Amino acid sequence: MAKHLKGNVDWVGYIDWELQKFHGDDYSIMNGSSQNAYLIKEGKNVLIDTVWSPHKEEFIENLKKEIDLKDIDYIILNHSEPDHSSSLPALMKEIPDTPIYCTETAKKFVEGQYGKQGWNFHTVKTGDELDIGNGEKLQFVEMKMLHWPDSMATFLTGDNILFSNDAFGQHFAVEELFNDKANRCLLNKEAMKYFANILNPFAPILKRKLVEIGKMNLPIEMIAPSHGAVWRENPLQIVEKYARWADAYQEDQITIAYDTMWNGTEKLAHAIADAVHELSPDTVVKVFNIAKADKNEIMTEVFKSKAIAVGSPTVSNSVLSSVAGWLEFLRQLKFKNKKGAAFGCYGWTGESIKVIQEKLKEAGFDVVDASIRSYFNPEADDLAKAKSVAAALLGLDLDEIEKEANQPETDKDSVAPAPDSKPADMSQYECGPCGYIYDPAVGDPDHGIKSGTSFADLPDDWTCPICGASKDQFSKVE
Ligand code: FEO
Repeated sequence: MAKHLKGNVDWVGYIDWELQKFHGDDYSIMNGSSQNAYLIKEGKNVLIDTVWSPHKEEFIENLKKEIDLKDIDYIILNHSEPDHSSSLPALMKEIPDTPIYCTETAKKFVEGQYGKQGWNFHTVKTGDELDIGNGEKLQFVEMKMLHWPDSMATFLTGDNILFSNDAFGQHFAVEELFNDKANRCLLNKEAMKYFANILNPFAPILKRKLVEIGKMNLPIEMIAPSHGAVWRENPLQIVEKYARWADAYQEDQITIAYDTMWNGTEKLAHAIADAVHELSPDTVVKVFNIAKADKNEIMTEVFKSKAIAVGSPTVSNSVLSSVAGWLEFLRQLKFKNKKGAAFGCYGWTGESIKVIQEKLKEAGFDVVDASIRSYFNPEADDLAKAKSVAAALLGLDLDEIEKEANQPETDKDSVAPAPDSKPADMSQYECGPCGYIYDPAVGDPDHGIKSGTSFADLPDDWTCPICGASKDQFSKVE
């Protein structure tokens, strides 16, 4: 059933409540998903994207209820991955001459997947436009490597809808279609999981693309991705989130991921979690058994973390296979600006710590020296090392903490108060033109602004990293 989007635009996709896995079995689906396709009826009738082939009959049948297929003037294919293109062969059997607009790479990829069928391709690049009558145009924006080389977004003028394809999407079934109708908590969680597990490897490209799109000054009023909810209420919120997520994102969180054979490594994991809490009670700590927990959910928590600890007993001079596979996935996701530590038990040779540390370095983590290598079941001195690991991950000097703790109460009381200085205002500031939020806790590292820099302390010539607006166009987030 079609759902009205805006103006003369309808959603004509497929809501997939039963989907449990995506990208083969590599991505877990917890809250359903959708393949979003859209139908624009202006002077010309335009179909944007299709759905995955298992749903092609239902898709075409539903589409026929909205329009005589012969009246479709253009098909826009924003991306050739099968979840958006694999209904094309069935659709093109019915309307074989209909022009298909896509990038040059998408044309190659479509022909690679479905063969050279003589379809009427028109290849486009950033800046190209297609007049669809009634004063409206489609403007094309290449989105190379977001997340495939062929990816593209399409902007509809007049209604000011950005059809962003995978970017800004979520694997999340939302019958009500719009973000303002969806469960906000789940929406944010699924958008972040999608980013962490699919888009994060391309974060540097994404950052540049967001700046490029910002400079195009598109008056975006709605963002309609190819999966999940359409961003109708404050659509730029997801652009602002992407800008932060693409910028070596982290929260005050430490994640501990391990597998265990006879529960010794598990005890170490819990000891590290306890030590983190003891040293820094406000820091969020998450603990996962890699063999039992969902790997995509763990990676989302790693994405949020400033540091991780990874544990495995030594098996055959290495780590458990569950941990080996997980570390390879970790490497692929190219997380940045995070610390890592290793821990584990051993009985014979004890190489797991070295293996984990090497794999963490390969994955781009800043590996701390502190580790726990426990001979068989952890004893008191092994568990005590958890505090060193926790302190290193938190960036704390354990000697200083212990010296402070051992200081007589009178000495502690005699510490002179700081001179009369006001603490810096660490409020967030929002860019008026594009909605980007400057967060002092994050700074703007790409432009030499360290985390901890208040908005007031930004140089006068600093500008919005998304749209280039000057400081005076920002307002305080209350
Ligand atoms: Fe939703 Fe890259 O396909």
